[in-house]
Order: sequence, then C-alpha cells, then structure tokens
Amino acid sequence: MNIFWQNEKLPLKRSFFGPKKTRFLEIGFGKGDFLIHLFALDSSSPLVGIEISKEMIEVTLRKLSYHPNIFLFHGDAKFLLKYVFPHNLFEKIFMLFPFPWPKKKHKEKRIYEGDFEKVIWYSLKEDGKFYMITDEDFFYEELKQKFLKENIFSESEFEDFFKEKAIETKYARKWRKENKNFYFLCLKKVNDKKPELKKKIKILNKIDHIVLKSENFITEFQNIKEDKIFILKRIFNSDKGKIFEFFVKEENFKQFLYFLMEKKKNTTLRPLFKEKIIFTEWIIENLKNIFEI
Ligand SMILES: C[S@@+](CC[C@H](N)C(=O)[O-])C[C@H]1O[C@@H](n2cnc3c(N)ncnc32)[C@H](O)[C@@H]1O
Repeated sequence: MNIFWQNEKLPLKRSFFGPKKTRFLEIGFGKGDFLIHLFALDSSSPLVGIEISKEMIEVTLRKLSYHPNIFLFHGDAKFLLKYVFPHNLFEKIFMLFPFPWPKKKHKEKRIYEGDFEKVIWYSLKEDGKFYMITDEDFFYEELKQKFLKENIFSESEFEDFFKEKAIETKYARKWRKENKNFYFLCLKKVNDKKPELKKKIKILNKIDHIVLKSENFITEFQNIKEDKIFILKRIFNSDKGKIFEFFVKEENFKQFLYFLMEKKKNTTLRPLFKEKIIFTEWIIENLKNIFEI
C-alpha cells in the first residue's frame, strides 16, 4: 500500500505505479466500498484512490489488506492530478457522491470549480471516461455543462456494471433511504481538442535540509497574495531545537509545514514529515523572508 511518495521527484513518473498500466482512479473514495469492487474487477493493474480525509483513508486501510497494486493518496484530488500525477494515466476516473455543499457560500469548496474538467481531461488516456454520480440535480447539471462547454468531452454510456456497484456505497445507501434521486453522468474524452491548462504553482524537488547563515529569524510573519497564503503560526521548543509551524495555501491546496532548526556543525532548517510535503517556490520564497538563507 502506498499512501505517500517518499523521495520521488514530482511530478511522479508512470513507473511509480509499476510496470503495468494504471486503469482506474476513484476520487473521494470515502469508506472504500467502490474501490473494493474495482479491485475485484482487476487486481493485476494498479488501482489509485485519492481522498482528502485522513480518517477515511484509515477506515479504508482497515478493510483492504496490503497489495502492491493499491495506491492511496491523501490530499486534494484536483491539486494532485494537476501537479503531482503524470498526464494520460487513467482509463476511467470515478467520482461517486462528491460533497454537494448545496449552500451558495460553499461554492468555492465544490470540486468542479476552476479548471477541474481540464485537469480530468489531462489525467485521462485517449478515449478515457469520467464517471460521476450525485443525488443533487443542480450539481449534476452544473458539472455536465462545465464538461461539455468547450467540446473536450462528449456524453457516453454509464455501463450497468459500474452503476450497480456504485449504488452500494455508504452515501448511496444513505440517500436511497431518504428516497433521493440519483443522477448518473459518463463523459468521454474528446481527443482532438487540447484545452489550455494554466499551472501557476512551481513544484520543487524534496528538500532534506537548508543550511542557514545565522540563527536569526523573524518571529511574526504572514504573506497573503491573491490566492496564496503563507503564515508563520507558531514557534515552539523541543529537545532538538526550535520547531516552526507554517500554514501554506496555494490554488486551494493547503499544507501545514513543520521545520526544525538544528544547530550542529552548521545551523540547519530541516522539514519534518518530509514525505507529506509538496515543496513549492512559494514556500522557499517565504522562508527566505524569515531566515537568513
Ligand atoms: C459524500 S462523500 C462520498 C464518499 C463515497 N464516494 C461514497 O459514495 O460513500 C465525499 C467524499 O469525497 C471526499 N472529498 C471531498 N473533496 C475532495 C477532494 N477535493 N479530493 C479528494 N477527496 C475529496 C470527502 O472526504 C468524502 O470522503
């Protein structure tokens, strides 16, 4: 089971998933009910799941025993697909009962906001398909229109096999009990139209440590620019040195970062939980304002 990448350069290479071609991805797999069906259908190809809730990943991990072909990622699917995964990877991408956030004030939380359809287009292989089920008619309509607007997708058949399995998930059962309607959408990638995808974030390779010129640092710092945030939240002491906690947000992708300032031969800044961090230019730019790098 691969929950995080370790020292791989980003974006990940196809070979990260092994020699066999990746077929299926599920976005927001919740308790993993549908992932289990996908795995039963084809356990010889790498199966990928992305889930933003760590709790849900833990629940799913308790159900699925170790298998080298199962890859679970913790994070925002849109960000990971846009910046971390290679393009043209998946045959089919499923998104079942994504959070509806029906209230207007939650609009920006809806996954299809921004360039979602373009990100899905690039993640799919030629003729690849995107499957979505929802219990909210407005969500179905808005998502469908967004995908069909630039003719980069066409409507396709939602095969019975996937329909049957998809309506057995936790949320499908919950909404069925409440007698809600289900809306099924299957969209096929139109290969000859290439949408423009603007990548604003510059991803860097993993950093092991940064050598500092001095032990000086600024104790209060925040930088907020358009859709980017960098805040020094806290500084606390540990037996190894000072630990700095930062909150970072870029294109709706949020990270909490912890850096340990150590004094050995040199004074260094070492990221903690390195395997979970995605280093970006924005992070380094801001660290330079706080420390003497
Ligand atoms: C309503 S639940 C549905 C879960 C499951 N598909 C089912 O049918 O039971 C929506 C799931 O999507 C996950 N999710 C929401 N936004 C996400 C995002 N941007 N990236 C990945 N997962 C996300 C949530 O954590 C949650 O588990």
